[in-house]
Amino acid sequence: MFEKITVVGAGNVGATAAQRIAEKHLARTVVMVDIAEGIPQGKALDQWQSGPVEGFDTRVIGTNDYALAADSELFVVTAGIARKPGMSRDDLVKTNAGIVQSVGEQIRAVAPKAIVIVVSNPLDVMCFVMRRATSFPPERVIGMAGVLDTARYRTFLSDALGISVDDIQAMVLGGHGDTMVPLVSYTTVSGIPVSQLLAAETLEAIVDRARNGGAEIVGHLKTGSAYYAPSAAAVEMVEAIVHDRKRLLPASAWLQGQFGLSDVYCGVPCLLGRAGLERIVEIALTDAERTALHASAEAVRSVQAIV
Ligand code: NAI
Ligand code: 2OP
Repeated sequence: MFEKITVVGAGNVGATAAQRIAEKHLARTVVMVDIAEGIPQGKALDQWQSGPVEGFDTRVIGTNDYALAADSELFVVTAGIARKPGMSRDDLVKTNAGIVQSVGEQIRAVAPKAIVIVVSNPLDVMCFVMRRATSFPPERVIGMAGVLDTARYRTFLSDALGISVDDIQAMVLGGHGDTMVPLVSYTTVSGIPVSQLLAAETLEAIVDRARNGGAEIVGHLKTGSAYYAPSAAAVEMVEAIVHDRKRLLPASAWLQGQFGLSDVYCGVPCLLGRAGLERIVEIALTDAERTALHASAEAVRSVQAIV
């Protein structure tokens, strides 16, 4: 268990993540910081009072002041605006870059040794902004997207196959956007290549639905974007770090030559443990997957150029 984890942004994703962190006993104290007065305080008090029912002793604190976040070992950054119908994740770039820059500067001031998991969109570019703002080494600034995109892909595969999600192993790499790269060649069902169990056109439709999984939910909600699966995905990464699990999860990492890519954040297989991003695991890709990964990284780079 960590002493203190801070979630920045007490909106849909942030507040749900804070609740999950407390329920999973991942920290003695969870701090929620937001600029909205009263929102983090009220939500934190409400969550803290669920402890006796849910069986956790974690103290949940809400604040507008980073002083309470001092010395947090880990931050989950969800501050920013979310998508509305018709908006792409990239449409959020200018507003969220300003927000993430200021959040990063505050984190650096109060917790210079922290690990930061970025959630704010456009995800890969916000990781770049966070690293620039904190000057933290690449192993301490990681982005959450691949776990979510993979969870969507696994959910749809499980549904089509009529087989438990537990038995579906997969990874979605690339930037968190329309160019994301589900690795069909590495998708297995208890070790059996999925291509032996589903027709190519069914697989293609599933890949397409996973790629548009965020937009499908925005289309229903209309006033915001997904948060139950995103918060669960972020907390899976938190759990891997807190418990030093050495999980191999797809996450956005600063690439310095891996997969032939440099100076860009992009989703790749990451070994997560107590030090944060402990290793990027380079795997062989088919020509089509490698081309798609490079195209996705270039799409991130073009948005990165804006900030
Ligand atoms: P939300 O609108 O419910 O919450 C955002 C919160 O950020 C608000 O409470 C707002 O007051 C706060 N905020 C704004 N500026 C701030 C600042 N300077 N300091 C601290 N807090 C600040 O939005 P939601 O649904 O929680 O989404 C948050 C972000 O996460 C969005 O950018 C969204 O696109 C992104 N997202 C990313 C996902 C991913 O896979 N990486 C998945 C889902 C959402
Ligand atoms: C999602 O994929 C909006 O990035 C967010 O749901």
